[in-house]
Amino acid sequence: MNVLVTGGTGYIGSHTCVELINAGHKPIVLDNLCNSNVESLNRVYTITGEKVPFIQGDVCDEKLLHEIFSRHAIDCVIHFAGLKAVGESVAKPLEYYQNNLGSTMSLCRVMRAHNVKKIIFSSSATVYSGDNEMPLRETSKTGNCTNPYGWTKYMCEQILRDIAKADPEWSVVLLRYFNPVGAHKSGLIGEHPNGIPNNLMPYISQTAIGKRDHLSVFGDDYDTPDGTGVRDYIHVVDLARGHVAAAGYMMSHKGEAVFNLGTGHGYSVLDMVHAFEEANGVKVPYEIAPRRPGDLATCYADPTKSREVLGWEAEFDQVDMCRDTWNWQSKNPNGYDD
Ligand code: NAD
Ligand code: UD1
Repeated sequence: MNVLVTGGTGYIGSHTCVELINAGHKPIVLDNLCNSNVESLNRVYTITGEKVPFIQGDVCDEKLLHEIFSRHAIDCVIHFAGLKAVGESVAKPLEYYQNNLGSTMSLCRVMRAHNVKKIIFSSSATVYSGDNEMPLRETSKTGNCTNPYGWTKYMCEQILRDIAKADPEWSVVLLRYFNPVGAHKSGLIGEHPNGIPNNLMPYISQTAIGKRDHLSVFGDDYDTPDGTGVRDYIHVVDLARGHVAAAGYMMSHKGEAVFNLGTGHGYSVLDMVHAFEEANGVKVPYEIAPRRPGDLATCYADPTKSREVLGWEAEFDQVDMCRDTWNWQSKNPNGYDD
């Protein structure tokens, strides 16, 4: 299958290119490099021996999209491109709505014009309402998002659902990611956040390597076994393989479907700190800090539907996640700038 991968030089996109190639597919990447480095695709080449065609440009640019769909026989699209920093989305809501909704609508318009009607969308566990019981099922309540980023995911899901409802030829798969962490086992590709990391794992690894003094643990008085927040961390390679499974599913299914991509296991912040220290023989100094606004005590998936319908389930464990994060971080302390 020829798969247009928007945002394919980014963290999850680059890992997905590797897994698509491993499964015999041909990714074509479109990315404007606003949060990534094209070096990631050179690394994908080192890992797989396949050169991924790359187009530098914006998914909101419909003229460019028409050219791409005219030039390449695209079978389906995986739409990763988007802005994803929660705090920044609160400060710059217009940029987030414009980029995340605008790119999705432009893409779908051009796909329709070229009769390509299969799309996998990067959604997030953040679309689930905070008052659900755990674990979260695909049928759990959505909405009540706490920030514009979350709303963009919620709204894109709705747009795509409506498109599939209006035209039964469309196949739309909404993948709700839990907490992606880790890196390819080669240590050649991984996550390199700009500036101070917002997410836990990159903060832990940057602390272990000495770029940050200590980790602030946001709250130790939650109703969880050790008082710190519990999340469903999922290895990025497992997540990438979930996309390959979803692409296969779309070949024989029309309409809209939503799947959780998580492991079903919850680990606390301190579980992750201790696992990281043990797996890698490093120290991660930490201090307890106040709760972060908008955080939930606990969030983890029920991955049953993905297992039963997609035939996909996570294979990597917490030790793999910690080891592979450190392997990438220690080999590339400055990400792709090294
Ligand atoms: P990333 O920032 O590494 O990758 C996103 C890529 O999209 C970047 O390479 C960026 O340059 C590109 N991009 C952004 N806007 C674009 C545009 N208008 N045109 C072309 N390219 C554009 O992020 P990631 O972690 O790989 O996330 C991929 C997707 O998964 C995003 O949509 C994100 O919201 C979603 N997601 C991520 C997480 C996570 O924790 N990483 C969790 C849930 C959902
Ligand atoms: C965050 C986003 C969510 C997004 C997800 C992507 C918020 C409120 N939510 O979720 O919208 O989809 O990332 O993966 O930002 N923690 C610390 N210290 C840190 C960083 C995090 O203690 O320096 C804790 C958090 O309080 C939380 C856990 O670690 O309990 C995980 O945090 P994080 O990696 O930011 O993910 P989420 O909060 O799940």
